[in-house]
Amino acid sequence: METKRIIIEDRNHIKDEELREAAGILRSGGLVAFPTETVYGLGGNALDEDAARKIYAAKGRPSDNPLIAHVSCMEEVAPLVKEIPEAGRKLMEAFWPGPLTMIFPKSDKVPCGTTGGLDTVAIRMPDDPVANRLIALAGVPVAAPSANTSGRPSPTTADHVWQDMNGRIEMIIDGGPVGIGVESTIVDVSSAVPAVLRPGAITMEMLEEVLGEVSVDPAILGPLSADVRPKAPGMKYKHYAPKADLTLVEPNAETDWKTGTDRKHGTDRENGTDWKNGTDRNTGADPENGLDERQLQAMIRKVQELSHEKIEAGYKVGVICTDESRDCYTDGAVRSIGARKSQASVAHNLYALLREFDDLGVDYIFSESFPKDHLGQAIMNRLSKAAGYKIVKV
Ligand code: TXA
Ligand code: MG
Repeated sequence: METKRIIIEDRNHIKDEELREAAGILRSGGLVAFPTETVYGLGGNALDEDAARKIYAAKGRPSDNPLIAHVSCMEEVAPLVKEIPEAGRKLMEAFWPGPLTMIFPKSDKVPCGTTGGLDTVAIRMPDDPVANRLIALAGVPVAAPSANTSGRPSPTTADHVWQDMNGRIEMIIDGGPVGIGVESTIVDVSSAVPAVLRPGAITMEMLEEVLGEVSVDPAILGPLSADVRPKAPGMKYKHYAPKADLTLVEPNAETDWKTGTDRKHGTDRENGTDWKNGTDRNTGADPENGLDERQLQAMIRKVQELSHEKIEAGYKVGVICTDESRDCYTDGAVRSIGARKSQASVAHNLYALLREFDDLGVDYIFSESFPKDHLGQAIMNRLSKAAGYKIVKV
């Protein structure tokens, strides 16, 4: 199949003519990759089981891993669900359109082919002008997993999508690099206490502010034992895997490693994050101030030591550092993942950096780690999974 690539001239002034062909492809059962504010999605008609089958085939994804149905406005939700629980209503009001996916009991209209056989459906209203207009023009809910080959890092540019999907889908819409860079937060609102199944840019702190009590699925926090099933089937797979062997270096005492800001009453950096351009708007708290300098230095020394060992042994080594620590490293392919003082920059660059190391063909990657508050929870969730939970404590 020949994959057509179209470029959106001006994301803030989209003309419907630019998206008509893409919308037609979706309506007639074909696949179109498109930008969202989180990562690029691989879209197909969510009400068409054949389209869902094509999505699984294009990604090489197991078909028990359900897809997220994307909508363009609130009215499009009701036909897809049995009910909208109170918690869901509150979160929709607070965070839609935006990087939040919710799990609802599904209506009969949504085929099991889209939900991996589950009786629930994941729904998200993206806050990206291209995604939003495309879904509205298609006139159907759009099932869209991240537009990567299963097991590869999620795509944050149209080039990444091209690398994985050229020849496999009808069209790629190039809307430039995404803003956030990690996938949406997933919250199950179909259970009594809402549960976070995947952390993202709508952080625990932000959810707690709206809902009070929120639980966290154990799959987010660490490796699962064989007898535990994560609620989001996708969390059981070793996602986001770079080709090289990745090891994270992390300070030992989690508590000393916090930012020092009070979670509830401190400055909420993420509320001040502008995810469209990936910069921290608000200059309030400087997360670096709360860090223990000794631990930071110990972590850097350990990354240096581990990479030296492998370089001495003749391997090609990549180092993931930050803008602040860049000058501490001399050996290996040293790349900054962003500024330690801007979690948004780290999330924004994360997947592109893992892909860059794939292209460089390094054998080992050693990475600094990050505090797990705010957006840091999503950052460390993705990095830990990419590392297969190989974490060295210092
Ligand atoms: O930011 C995002 O959410 C991106 C963009 C394209 O919107 N999409 C995305 O889709 O990340 P995907 O398919 O890569 O991840 C969807 C996750 C999987 O872990 C899947 O298991 C979970 O959502 N999921 C989908 N439906 C579910 C359901 N009914 N119950 C529990 N988990 C579900
Ligand atoms: Mg994915």
